[in-house]
Amino acid sequence: MRNTLIAIAAFITIAIVIQFNNSQTIDDKVETLLAEMTLEEKAGQLNQYSGYEIITGDIDESKISQRNLLVKKGLVGSVLNVLGTKDVEKAQRYAVEETRLGIPLIFAFDVIHGYRTIFPIPLAESASWDLEAIENAARIAAIEASAAGQNWTFAPMVDISQDPRWGRVMEGAGEDSYLGSQIAKARVRGFQGDDLSQFNTIAATAKHFAAYGEVIAGRDYNNVDISRRKLWETHLSPFKAALDEGVRSFMNAFNEFEGVPSSANTYLITDVLRGQWGFDGVLVSDWDSFGAMVTSGVAADDAEAAEMSLEAGSDIDMESDVFVNFLPQLVRDGRVDEAQIDEAVRRVLRLKYDLGLFDNPYKYIDAEREKNLILAPEHRAAARDMASKSIILLKNDNQLLPLDKTIKNIAVIGPLGDNQYHMNGFWRGKGQAEDVVTLLEGIKAKVSANTNVSYAEGSGLESLDSDKLSKAIELAKKSDVVILAVGEDADKTGESSSRTNIELYPAQQQLVKAIHQTGTPVVMVLMNGRPLAIEWSAENIPAVLNGWFLGSEAGNALADVLFGDYNPSAKLTMTVPRKTGQIPIYYNAKRVSRPMGDARYTSKFIDSPNSPLYPFGYGLSYTEFSYSPIKLSTDSINFTETLSATVTVTNTGKRLGEEVVQLYIQDLVGSVVRPVKELKGFEKIALEAGQSQEVSFTISTDDLAFYTRDMSFKAEAGKFKLFIGSSSEDLQGVNFTLTAD
Ligand code: NOJ
Repeated sequence: MRNTLIAIAAFITIAIVIQFNNSQTIDDKVETLLAEMTLEEKAGQLNQYSGYEIITGDIDESKISQRNLLVKKGLVGSVLNVLGTKDVEKAQRYAVEETRLGIPLIFAFDVIHGYRTIFPIPLAESASWDLEAIENAARIAAIEASAAGQNWTFAPMVDISQDPRWGRVMEGAGEDSYLGSQIAKARVRGFQGDDLSQFNTIAATAKHFAAYGEVIAGRDYNNVDISRRKLWETHLSPFKAALDEGVRSFMNAFNEFEGVPSSANTYLITDVLRGQWGFDGVLVSDWDSFGAMVTSGVAADDAEAAEMSLEAGSDIDMESDVFVNFLPQLVRDGRVDEAQIDEAVRRVLRLKYDLGLFDNPYKYIDAEREKNLILAPEHRAAARDMASKSIILLKNDNQLLPLDKTIKNIAVIGPLGDNQYHMNGFWRGKGQAEDVVTLLEGIKAKVSANTNVSYAEGSGLESLDSDKLSKAIELAKKSDVVILAVGEDADKTGESSSRTNIELYPAQQQLVKAIHQTGTPVVMVLMNGRPLAIEWSAENIPAVLNGWFLGSEAGNALADVLFGDYNPSAKLTMTVPRKTGQIPIYYNAKRVSRPMGDARYTSKFIDSPNSPLYPFGYGLSYTEFSYSPIKLSTDSINFTETLSATVTVTNTGKRLGEEVVQLYIQDLVGSVVRPVKELKGFEKIALEAGQSQEVSFTISTDDLAFYTRDMSFKAEAGKFKLFIGSSSEDLQGVNFTLTAD
């Protein structure tokens, strides 16, 4: 009875709020609501908790009742990791029906590369250089996540990283900020769609702001020590691109910049994000990143951590409790200005209005939609398409690939050859191993009825077993070809999974050598979350595919490529080193004063070439492409003019193929040291055998601008070199001039 009365009272309250609000603009509605709120309720809107403790259930009893109660008191504004319409509805009812003001919760989740239908890891997707497909993958992730009651994803991660020791490179778009910016936009478009209030779109988050990809030695959660120049040149543009695309939220990084943790960094937040860029959306902390300021010794206690974070312009406290516990008292003590809390609350409420949650807090909750959309066949088809587009052909001696579907005996060998679990990679959302098509299954489904396909594990991911090894060797000897699936443990990629050595694990290295020694031709399929330094394999194994962790349709997509139903078109977005010691290694390094040469005192390693194993932008096809000489519309422009650079690309091989035509520019003399080249454009084209197509790029001073000696972003008159080609190393170049007049 009591509950019913409370529910009725709450319903009347919210009905009044909504009705009253109907004739007002969203800003008016926010102000009306804000005026109703107590200081505690305001702090509550800035408080975010994770998990099922807020619903009820069986985790940590003490937390359950406590957090559950806080939601019912209106002291929680958003939650993460509460999934599925049933649980989301339950939690939403607490907020809407049992709190004084009935303000709905936002439900957030790390939807990184799919919700239940799992797409390739983001780094793999970036290798497709296919912005439309990447946008579509994010769209489908949003459709499934929103069908499970979610309104907000903590993606895309737009951190640039040049360090594959860092496990989180799997979550990003590689080492280049130009490509990273294009991909950031595509993902934001995909998640958010055209109208955030629709039931099938979700708010996106540009994370982690900023420079997290620079953690020293690639060790996760380590400090960052870079210049402002490096910050602007390498890290900020993908964030700005996401913002230009309308991204609704940002997330603080764990790391400090210039000694101040990102969550309270007034330069990053107040000056750049809120000031210069005018971002008025929500800035959420990373997990406990406010509280962690006490651990790193920048805040004396939790209260000071709260004060510093709010002061800088952060809005939501994920999981450190410092806002909800201390903000009201900080205001009463005169240490925090309530107006500043109001600003943060406004941003949160506005997001709730824009998501349509005040119109209907249950609009994302529809069990029927959830049932029909999760793992829908068309989503799996798109995941397969995206996965085939993400596979990079690194080596193909004597055109060993594609394989004939009528080969008599095929051996699939390796710890990942028939594995479902690892294919979903890290950050696998609600992806289930049971949904995954393994490599073995994909191959079996592809080959002729007369082909024998057998499997031997050969080794564990990190452990050798002589019995398993002998069986694999026996199988290899009896087979016409071996498909060798090696790589990483998905749980040793991603967050908190840094490596000091990015070669294959010794057990797998031994397996590769033993199988190679049988003399049976080997196709190596790497399954990885980061570039792997496979120097020995690159020299000795005739065909190598970089297969990443490809998600639900991994096996089918790999079989499509192995047997030629899809002609590989992906290209590396991170340089592959020969050895771990070359890291950081990236294509757009700055020129040095003593470039590598034969003489002793030049910039080089004494135990390895400087060059990578495979460069940025590299990837083979089953066909070949030729490039005509570059035609420039003019070899000199001034600051208001543009020039176009055109090549004709011809498919000189025997089958349909796609090519990523890449444009790079080098500024030959600058007021500061400039990179040897920088990606400035690309176009992915499909050509039938024998077909040609012109590809043109237009270059303006915007493409030539950089952070000059005084850090102003502009072009400088002088000579430039323009390159077009099929990778950052396979290029032809022509010069042109930018004149001051
Ligand atoms: C910590 C990670 O750094 C961040 O990317 C993620 O969104 C949060 N945890 C929430 O899961």
